[in-house]
Amino acid sequence: MKEKKPEKVIIRIKRQESPEAKSYWEEYYIPYRPYLNIITCLQGIRKTLRTFDGRPTTPVAWESSCLEEICGICTMVINGRVRQACSALVDQLEQPITLEPMKKFSLVRDLIVDRSSIFENLKRVKAWVPMKDTQDRGPGPKILPKDQQINYALSRCFSCGACLEVCPQVNERNDFVGAAILSQARLFNRHPIGKEIQLERLKALVGEGGIEDCGNAQNCLEICPKDIPLIDSIAEINREITFNLIHLIKGK
Ligand code: SF4
Ligand code: FES
Repeated sequence: MKEKKPEKVIIRIKRQESPEAKSYWEEYYIPYRPYLNIITCLQGIRKTLRTFDGRPTTPVAWESSCLEEICGICTMVINGRVRQACSALVDQLEQPITLEPMKKFSLVRDLIVDRSSIFENLKRVKAWVPMKDTQDRGPGPKILPKDQQINYALSRCFSCGACLEVCPQVNERNDFVGAAILSQARLFNRHPIGKEIQLERLKALVGEGGIEDCGNAQNCLEICPKDIPLIDSIAEINREITFNLIHLIKGK
């Protein structure tokens, strides 16, 4: 027998007007149609500006850009699981669908959080290839295909923050940088030119907020939408630190 599709999509959203304001839940609906994703639902809700029971309400705030799981800006907690709203399909979700902002980042409004701590931590580990100038020096060093494959897997991180959201070590009591940052440090340490500042990166990961704060819960691996081998990255950074410990202690 053909599965009966619902007439409505019912969505409960955790609202909060500002970081200081009290949070509350509001329920909405939009007419069902196939292939809806959560961003389309949010756009529908914004058009009606009515709650489920017809009360006028204020526009729900959320962010989206690429709509194809590339920018990471739409990451939120959907039915209790952190993921991207643009790739979360209504047909695959139980109703009522609940939407909440991520909790490990400061709230801006409703479903918008401030993920700048990720970018600050990427700066902390110098997650870039250093350049002395912009002169053309011809092709760079060759990278073997087997290394390219690993680098490509690591380069898929889009700083969505999901791995930080599920990490028990990322909390108000410590400054653990999280798996994404460790993995990006690994990526740039693997680069033929990026590895020139390998020790600076590793130094930033020794001590408070660094590798020692990882509790090996491995939730990051399970949640990452890009299947990045995060546990391998953590192990590799650990190995690099152990190998270079003498230089790191001397601060060379
Ligand atoms: S490692 Fe995965 S879960 Fe973490 S920020 Fe990058 S893409 Fe998102
Ligand atoms: S809008 Fe870019 S990842 Fe969802």
